Amino acid sequence: PSLSEMYNSFDFESVAKNVLSPAAWAYYSSGSDDEVTMRENHNAFHRIWMRPRVLVNVKDVDTTTTMLGTKVDFPLYITATALAKLGHPEGETVLTKGAAMNNIIYMVPTLASCSFDEIMDAAAPGQVNWLQLYVNADRQVSKQFVQHAEKRGVKGLFITVDAPQLGRREKDMRQKYEEEAPDEIERTNTQVNRNAGAARAISNFIDPSLTWEDVAWFRSITNMPILIKGVQTAEDAVLAAKAGLQGVVLSNHGGRQLDFAPSAIEILAEVMDALRAEQLDKNFEVYVDGGIRRGSDIFKAIALGAKGVGIGRPAIYAMSTYGVSGVDHLLNLFKTELEMVMRLMGVRSLSEINRNMVDIRNIKDH
Ligand code: FNR
Repeated sequence: PSLSEMYNSFDFESVAKNVLSPAAWAYYSSGSDDEVTMRENHNAFHRIWMRPRVLVNVKDVDTTTTMLGTKVDFPLYITATALAKLGHPEGETVLTKGAAMNNIIYMVPTLASCSFDEIMDAAAPGQVNWLQLYVNADRQVSKQFVQHAEKRGVKGLFITVDAPQLGRREKDMRQKYEEEAPDEIERTNTQVNRNAGAARAISNFIDPSLTWEDVAWFRSITNMPILIKGVQTAEDAVLAAKAGLQGVVLSNHGGRQLDFAPSAIEILAEVMDALRAEQLDKNFEVYVDGGIRRGSDIFKAIALGAKGVGIGRPAIYAMSTYGVSGVDHLLNLFKTELEMVMRLMGVRSLSEINRNMVDIRNIKDH
């Protein structure tokens, strides 16, 4: 189908399933174990209903905001997903370019299939990128990577904390990882195991002994804002704020790690309440990812207190099917849907969106 026939983010997924190699589809689409969390990530949004207000002048709506001080066109970023070359020969550069065209942020993954510098070289002048870090058991490797990223202008460090061990993604494991292991991966990871799926092949180096104590060391090696990605309870969000981090990403890794982890949107309200109760909600940014597929999903996350939301699979499916124009079109759809929802909800700017605009009675504890 032509790009103009892609009416929403789900359309890209259907096309991707048909055009991706079986190995790429298995790696991108899989969740862990029974994939209950993966399915729940989007389904949880279905339990949140809207409380629209009428007779507000919504001729002009403004979706702009800031994320870690960077001005963006709307509150969405493309989050880190490994191995973009499985889906497109130009890999992560496609995602960076798409993000630039829509003035939003791209989070570069540690396990990119292009080298980090290739991705940064593809960025537009002045474009802001973030870095996702898998912490290497050899801390010097991580230190060099982080400091190099900071030198190249990266504006936020997101340390992934939900993967001390890789989840079992059985669809992926049934595939043998036969693609050439990209250079960057050979460098970060000494033992590439090609016999148990893409995920296992590339992730042996991740340090399972990482703790809260390591935060101070990260502080000492960089001036970038540091956030942790993969927080799944209010307790840990509070600890993150107390540890002096700049924020958290509520995430269960797209349902690829602990099956039966809660969806980010479902814990957002209690996280914000816990932070507020301890007066830790100022200068602390809470992001969510997992199952964001519609403009209404963005609206709901903002209403419950998120500073912004990340998309993973929708972006890689758009990249894999239509390249840069696909990513551009997808981001346009998200922005247009958000504008429509804002108008129909009777709000003109993100700052007017609040918790009263959503009904969360069907979310646990509320
Ligand atoms: C991921 N994710 C991920 N996260 C991370 O911190 N480092 C990584 O290398 C990857 N790699 C990765 C690969 C693929 C194929 C997927 C689908 C996901 C998790 C990702 O950042 C994010 O949390 C989820 O993708 C968000 O959920 P959705 O938008 O895919 O539903």
